[in-house]
Amino acid sequence: MRQFLLLAHRVPVDGGFTLNDLAGGGGRMDEVARVVSTGFTLSNDLRRDTELTIVFSSAPPPAARRIRLEGERLRYLNPDERSTAALLKNALVRSLGTDHEIESSPGLFVGPVDPPAELARFAAVQGTLWLTEGGEPLDPSTLPGGPMRAVLSDPTDPTPQEEEILRASGTRRVSLGPRSLRSSQCIDVLQNLFDRRTERTSAVREAPPARSP
Ligand SMILES: C[S@@+](CC[C@H](N)C(=O)[O-])C[C@H]1O[C@@H](n2cnc3c(N)ncnc32)[C@H](O)[C@@H]1O
Repeated sequence: MRQFLLLAHRVPVDGGFTLNDLAGGGGRMDEVARVVSTGFTLSNDLRRDTELTIVFSSAPPPAARRIRLEGERLRYLNPDERSTAALLKNALVRSLGTDHEIESSPGLFVGPVDPPAELARFAAVQGTLWLTEGGEPLDPSTLPGGPMRAVLSDPTDPTPQEEEILRASGTRRVSLGPRSLRSSQCIDVLQNLFDRRTERTSAVREAPPARSP
């Protein structure tokens, strides 16, 4: 299982933006949609082993929203950014004024959230990585076993409060390279590293037993 948490700081939590202005009035919903698309889509398939939580914190609770996408159940996700943004916007609009989580389309759950608590809960799980330009260079051979989990931010860096939560949780700060990447590029690189780790561990499992002399 692969689990990601994306901090989305500027997208209007009520879905009040037009699909014609995702980068401006949409608060960089273009990049959020790209993270979803890159995180889940393969050439001719979807990554069923992936879950992504997006925390929309441009307004405090009770307006703040969380969208969870579960690859196993996910449908109606096309590779283009605009239709993905429409799926997410529709979820935010449908969730407006509700006090509980709903499944707005198959595999896409939306509801209210307390952003700091959600981040703290996610980061508390052992092995979670915090993707940040200032982290230690990630050596793929040190990737943790078990579920693969990472926190990343949208084009706005984490707030001081978010940084404090991440530091307090003891999450490992890792860098994917010397250049500052787009969030969608980070998820692509990480999925690839995780793919190769999975390949390595299954090769080890499938290797025939050594013959005794
Ligand atoms: C576009 S960057 C954030 C803005 C960027 N810090 C700037 O100065 O414009 C989006 C997010 O991707 C992740 N990120 C970008 N480059 C990275 C790198 N080289 N290693 C690890 N994470 C990275 C971080 O989570 C970052 O907050």
